[in-house]
Amino acid sequence: MNHTETRYLEAKRSLDDRSRSPRVRERLLSALPSEPRILDVGCGTGTMVPGLLEWGIDTGTYRGVDGDAGVIDFARDVRPAELRRAGHGVTVCDRGFSVEDLSVTYETGDALGTLERAEDVDLIVAQAFADLVSISELLAGVESALAPGGLAYLPITFDGGTIFQPDHPVDEEVEAAYHAAIDAEPGRDVHAGRHLADASRRADGDLLAMAASDWVLRPRDGIYPADEAYFLDAILGFVQTALSDGTVAEGDDWLAARRQQLADGRLTYIAHQYDLLYRGPDS
Ligand SMILES: C[S@@+](CC[C@H](N)C(=O)[O-])C[C@H]1O[C@@H](n2cnc3c(N)ncnc32)[C@H](O)[C@@H]1O
Repeated sequence: MNHTETRYLEAKRSLDDRSRSPRVRERLLSALPSEPRILDVGCGTGTMVPGLLEWGIDTGTYRGVDGDAGVIDFARDVRPAELRRAGHGVTVCDRGFSVEDLSVTYETGDALGTLERAEDVDLIVAQAFADLVSISELLAGVESALAPGGLAYLPITFDGGTIFQPDHPVDEEVEAAYHAAIDAEPGRDVHAGRHLADASRRADGDLLAMAASDWVLRPRDGIYPADEAYFLDAILGFVQTALSDGTVAEGDDWLAARRQQLADGRLTYIAHQYDLLYRGPDS
């Protein structure tokens, strides 16, 4: 199991929980059928299941798919026990587990291939995922997998804002280099949020709701909540990789200053993102 990846995904959970838009979630809940068939692509450590239960979605089926076998093993191990501790009735079976009347499976697989083969899905979830793959392929996969009038919920979709505080003289150069490195990776799109919104507008279905869901990661009295200091250190690691070709002359100074501010409980990080809710065509 890749401990670094699972800890990173678990560490972002507290941030996701406070950042998702209540308005988009309410719109989703008002449009969802009573026993939804749910497909979560790029499900990571499967944190969406406790979230769905918290929102009252406790019947139907949930299928989580991720390309990383380590995070899927982690989800299978950790989620049933967590849900039991939270007071839910959980029954483990061969293919996964049932919690209340929701049947849950986690599996390893490619998200786009899974969407291509899936059909009659009432709700596709793709959290913090749309910036990792081609938007047009994702939307085509979503449309082919959805039941008529089915929903796609894409919260925490990155949209190209990376802010650190306090100010540093080369912040703009660092942000530009970081975003350029993301955009250079095949299929990735630093402005996935706005591009997904525009592609949805041109598609056959409707963009039902969209709202900002920026991560605001900040210390309180010098202390970061939950495991968010670890998460912020991982983000600095991503920026370090992006700066490794030396395009920003003062990149090393910037990183050293940010790491010191993190250690001192003085560093704030903001990522600009959107939650989107799309409804596929009725037929
Ligand atoms: C940023 S994480 C988000 C995970 C989860 N949705 C969450 O919000 O905690 C993106 C996840 O997508 C997975 N992933 C990336 N590309 C994928 C693909 N083509 N097929 C399936 N999973 C993929 C990664 O392994 C990772 O777990």
